[in-house]
Amino acid sequence: MPASTSTPAERARVGDVVDLVLEEIAQGGHCVARLDGQVVFVRDGLPGERVRARLTSVGARFARAAVTEVLVASADRVVPPCPVAGRCGGCDFQHVAPAAQRELKRRVVAGQLQHLAGLTWDGVVEEVPPVLGWRTRMRYHATPEGRAGLRGHRTHDIVPLPAEGCRIAAPASPGPGRVHRRNAGRRHRGWAVLRRRGRPGARGPRGGERPALGRGCRRLLAEPSGRSPGAGRGRAGRRGAPGGERALDLYCGVGLFAGALATAGCEVTGIEGSKQAVAHARRNVPEARFLAGSVAALLRRERLTADIVVLDPPRAGAGPDVIEAIAALEPRVVGYVSCDPATLARDLAAAGRHGYRVASLRCFDLFPMTHHAECLAVLEPR
Ligand SMILES: C[S@@+](CC[C@H](N)C(=O)[O-])C[C@H]1O[C@@H](n2cnc3c(N)ncnc32)[C@H](O)[C@@H]1O
Repeated sequence: MPASTSTPAERARVGDVVDLVLEEIAQGGHCVARLDGQVVFVRDGLPGERVRARLTSVGARFARAAVTEVLVASADRVVPPCPVAGRCGGCDFQHVAPAAQRELKRRVVAGQLQHLAGLTWDGVVEEVPPVLGWRTRMRYHATPEGRAGLRGHRTHDIVPLPAEGCRIAAPASPGPGRVHRRNAGRRHRGWAVLRRRGRPGARGPRGGERPALGRGCRRLLAEPSGRSPGAGRGRAGRRGAPGGERALDLYCGVGLFAGALATAGCEVTGIEGSKQAVAHARRNVPEARFLAGSVAALLRRERLTADIVVLDPPRAGAGPDVIEAIAALEPRVVGYVSCDPATLARDLAAAGRHGYRVASLRCFDLFPMTHHAECLAVLEPR
């Protein structure tokens, strides 16, 4: 029989356990490793560690793996506060000391900005306490045995909640309701978790979720880059009176930033795709005008003007057409809130092509114990 000419990477199969040396952290929070040259994205590890890992997917371009044993640990590794960390899909940085989590996020943000936009960022990821008990919106599921739990990583399997509950859930957030038997047709038969309602007065789908970002946004409006003007400064500031400017809040959700802009004295128009969110926004910020529909379509269709534009797009980013349409409005300042450094970097590159430069960029650790972070970029005409 002829000897096999395939490499270990080509022979690799899902379920195989391999020893790997972890290199740099990548976008998405996984470490890069190489199996005979082929890239493997490894979760639950840290840069510099030697680990034993199980392959969870093997593709033509790269594979994925999860650490099963740490052979040589990083100094930044800690015992996760949650006993189901590594199995639950909610937190992927529980095994990392909080300061090191922020450093890893900094490296990802700086790397994406450099790689995709040619921008050098030397900022830090700012701490936003608490590191546990911050999450106000939770979606619980039921295990086949009828226990409340959360989804595992990249699977529909449900990991039962530990006795103390989810460590990142805010103590005041509604916990899982009673698990009950459901008989609504064959597809929906089984166990389900009754949803508890939030406290009355909550602002809707995303309202109370990110108070720290609200604070960050207000800081942006007050002092975007330490030098450049925010709402109530600039033209209006030159007139000596705060506010009086026209502001657009794009992807406005329930109107978190629209509220801050209106409070700063701006005449605000918000645009949001979800009609339900728009209904909440209208109740939350009655003094602003809200349009329901696609940002790209409404920017094309409506005759809009703006001195200030704030945008907080979903992870997919705004895209080059929306960025071009924003630049065509010639706002004096744009505040871009982003939860994805890769799409942020692409959009900043597009803004650069349309005459807007990054005046400041801050990054907040709004989602400790996960690889996610929130960036706030302030753009000004060049
Ligand atoms: C990151 S959230 C922004 C939340 C908002 N800043 C708030 O505090 O409530 C992104 C929002 O964009 C909306 N969205 C997504 N794609 C959209 C589109 N193409 N046009 C308009 N809105 C969109 C989503 O419904 C979601 O509310």
